Amino acid sequence: MSENETRPVMKGLILSGGKGTRLRPITHTGAKQLVPIANRPILAYVVDNLANAGITEVGMIISPETGEEIKETMGDGSEWGVKITYIPQTEPKGLAHAVVVARDFLGDSPFVMYLGDNLIGCRIDKFVDTFNTSGSDAVILLKPVDNPSSFGIAEVAEDGTIVRLVEKPKEPKSNLALVGVYIFSTRIHKAIEEIEPSPRGELEITDAIQRLVTVGAPVQSQVLDTWWLDTGKKDDLLAANTVVLDEWLKRDIKGSVDEESEVTGRVSIAEGAVVKNSTLRGPIVIGKGSVIKDSFVGPYTSIGDGSKVKKSIIEHSVILAGAEIDHVDRLEDSLIGRDARVGKCHNKHKALRLMVGDDSVVEV
Ligand code: G1P
Repeated sequence: MSENETRPVMKGLILSGGKGTRLRPITHTGAKQLVPIANRPILAYVVDNLANAGITEVGMIISPETGEEIKETMGDGSEWGVKITYIPQTEPKGLAHAVVVARDFLGDSPFVMYLGDNLIGCRIDKFVDTFNTSGSDAVILLKPVDNPSSFGIAEVAEDGTIVRLVEKPKEPKSNLALVGVYIFSTRIHKAIEEIEPSPRGELEITDAIQRLVTVGAPVQSQVLDTWWLDTGKKDDLLAANTVVLDEWLKRDIKGSVDEESEVTGRVSIAEGAVVKNSTLRGPIVIGKGSVIKDSFVGPYTSIGDGSKVKKSIIEHSVILAGAEIDHVDRLEDSLIGRDARVGKCHNKHKALRLMVGDDSVVEV
């Protein structure tokens, strides 16, 4: 492409298919990309990031299992000033297969491909700039990880050029994982045509990028210098909640707080929420219509819409919408599912009475 020729406008492609089995029981009935972090679905942060980079055309890959719920939650994208086009992927045949499915939507545009369960601690504009100014066919983001066998891994030479990319290597030669945010030129489509399904039976985007490297197409890598949370991988969820509350939450009190309560630090209380005779120490986010009564809520806690917390102490936990926590002496580092109830039985044996959903783990 000559220098004065401008590339077609960049689009976004968010991958939010899959069944979300890795996060059971929390995603037992829902999409893992909709699990709330600080009371917003992960996908909301993904769309924020694309919109902040000036992208207005967003394709969203959805699966038959969770697609409807995603559509209902994210709508047409107008909340972000973008237009979302939903693209069904009827079978989970891999990340590169999702690009094939989105071929008509993508047309001749370069695009940012963003895995819908990935959260990164920075904007992506600078990576888009790198792509535009370097004339690369792919810009990939890397981040060192402790468990390289669980990711796509890049071997990078000292001068920064990519030697090899391997999906989930059994014997990793590096610890630099491919973060789930990629920028591609249209050349990726041909590379995808030239690869075969991997041992797990999927068309891997990692193999397609390796194909670009093999044919000598310019592929640029950048090591991410902020945090990256792959929320599809269980333990990252509480960590993501902590980081997002820590870095992005602002004090914003819309709900009602009575005179007996004390609210310190960055606490966000949504409209319709009621706080009575309680102590709240931020960062905390409390969803619409929730009730907090006679309780202490400590730092790094997210309480979803319509939840009730009574006579309890909670810290560093995520309570999803509609849950009830009643007479719990101390709840910490916990993830409580939607509409779940955790409470103490008030009989003389002081027994615990728990109502717990399928596949849950209870430690008492
Ligand atoms: C996918 C990619 C992998 C990448 C990871 C990042 O893995 O195949 O290369 O490192 O996302 O989240 P998966 O989530 O399918 O296991």
